[in-house]
Amino acid sequence: MKKTVRIALPLALALAAAPGFANDDKMLSEARGVAAGIPPKLLNVLDEEIKKGGPEGAIGVCREKAPAMARAASEQTGWAIRRVSLKNRNPKAVPDAWEEAVLKDFDKRAAAGEKPTGLEKGEVVTVDGKQMYRYMKALPTQDLCLQCHGTPERVSPAVQAKLKEFYPDDKAVGYASAEIRGAITLKKPLP
Ligand code: HEC
Repeated sequence: MKKTVRIALPLALALAAAPGFANDDKMLSEARGVAAGIPPKLLNVLDEEIKKGGPEGAIGVCREKAPAMARAASEQTGWAIRRVSLKNRNPKAVPDAWEEAVLKDFDKRAAAGEKPTGLEKGEVVTVDGKQMYRYMKALPTQDLCLQCHGTPERVSPAVQAKLKEFYPDDKAVGYASAEIRGAITLKKPLP
């Protein structure tokens, strides 16, 4: 038994001495996988519901299904997951300071020519003395989104009426295609 310890110790020391990169990489790829799973599922459901009942009939998808999908993924994976925006519709979708800085950086990077679909950011941050991994991925608009997030010409009167009823302080309109509507944001304490 002693022999095993003597052999294993240098290896353990070498691993411990390596900076946190291996861990960060693992957290990044985990967050990336979780974040990538939700938007395509949501898009499918949105598309189906819009075909069935028009955009006014699909408002519930973004209102109930999107948060429900985020909750389910949170429970499955242990990552806290939500959506935020600099021009939020849901009054709770306000970014915190870290998220706000990342969203502003996404806008800058997009303006400088980076593809909005590829914009992401992962970082280890210390909150109240505890290390957390935080990750954000941009959610760019596609044509379909503009039925509920576009300029007044693109948003039908029926949708406008419903949005006004549910979200009197709605800021999430006036977008064009391929603009950054917001981001999916994830965090988890480091192991
Ligand atoms: C059928 C209408 C509709 C369509 C289409 C739609 N959304 Fe939304 N979106 C909403 C509603 C309603 C909310 C508020 C949801 C809530 O109450 O949490 C919302 C919220 C969001 C949020 C969360 C931040 C916020 O402002 O509250 C993001 C991000 C978002 N939508 C992105 C998109 C993107 C990207 C698309 C296209 C792929 C899209 N939406 C298509 C209706 C829509």
